[in-house]
Amino acid sequence: MSVLLDISHMDMEFPNPKGAFTALKDVNLKIRQGEFVSLIGHSGCGKSTVLNVVAGLYQATRGGVILNGKEVLEPGPERAVVFQNHSLLPWLTAYENVELAVKQVFRKSKSKVEMREWIEHNLNLVHMGHAIHKRPSEISGGMKQRVGIARALAMQPKVLLMDEPFGALDALTRAHMQDSLMEIQAELNNTVIMITHDVDEAVLLSDRIVMMTNGPAATIGEILKIDLERPRHRLDLADDTHYNRYRAQVLKFLHERHSKPDVRTAPALNTETNSVDTGSEPDKTKNKNTERTDAVVDAA
Ligand SMILES: Nc1ncnc2c1ncn2[C@@H]1O[C@H](COP(=O)(O)OP(=O)(O)OP(=O)(O)O)[C@@H](O)[C@H]1O
Ligand SMILES: [Mg+2]
Repeated sequence: MSVLLDISHMDMEFPNPKGAFTALKDVNLKIRQGEFVSLIGHSGCGKSTVLNVVAGLYQATRGGVILNGKEVLEPGPERAVVFQNHSLLPWLTAYENVELAVKQVFRKSKSKVEMREWIEHNLNLVHMGHAIHKRPSEISGGMKQRVGIARALAMQPKVLLMDEPFGALDALTRAHMQDSLMEIQAELNNTVIMITHDVDEAVLLSDRIVMMTNGPAATIGEILKIDLERPRHRLDLADDTHYNRYRAQVLKFLHERHSKPDVRTAPALNTETNSVDTGSEPDKTKNKNTERTDAVVDAA
């Protein structure tokens, strides 16, 4: 498989009252056509920033992204994004939100009837068939997220960029969406970059898990290749020794080698101040992080 997406020497600095803040430093990653890559790392390390540069929404301060031999300088329909906070247009219904994207991509190749069927198909896929004419204010957060996913899938993008796409969903819907995503990806062979905080989700879905170090100046710490046969079935994998070894490797990275001392005391703090409180006692820190991991895993 050839390299589709090449992130090279990517730095990202954000202006800040005290001078520039370096969020990312020298991020390098080559992704092949059809690959499923997860980005995992502690809150505030820079995962969304990487995704936003690939989406063309942010411009890297140094280095950048080459997609199919062309530098990414702006957003494009071959890269659909599912945002961390659902981003539907509030004055449009679920159907109309998906329609907007579908028209952008398929105006010339699909008839009106085909477009309607395609929009409904994608909304059904995310179990939103019953609420296609509801506006965002009339549906729950998880439902909005599902419409956002339908919108992205309906574009049949070459690259699907997903920022914690299933974080707001209940456990059953999330499992269903993960299975659907694996099926869709197997069928369409699109390239996926997905940010997740859920270790099981990362191992289940990914070909590679990219683990990021803590910021400031975050970068890729380790890349774990997941050599599990596809199609993958969650129930079979629960007792699989390879699956559990991969899972343990990610947990080790996050909670031993790159643990975040202030993860419980200030989960949102670092995104605002970019400061890291390293004053906690090391033993307590370890326990805190283990507890937090279990919570994330349990929620899956
Ligand atoms: N537009 C911006 N302006 C200034 N600083 C920013 C901006 N976007 C992100 N940052 C900073 O860059 C760092 C990385 O942020 P980013 O949102 O990429 O983290 P993240 O890994 O996605 O976190 P989370 O898991 O909480 O979503 C943070 O310290 C954040 O405060
Ligand atoms: Mg983020």
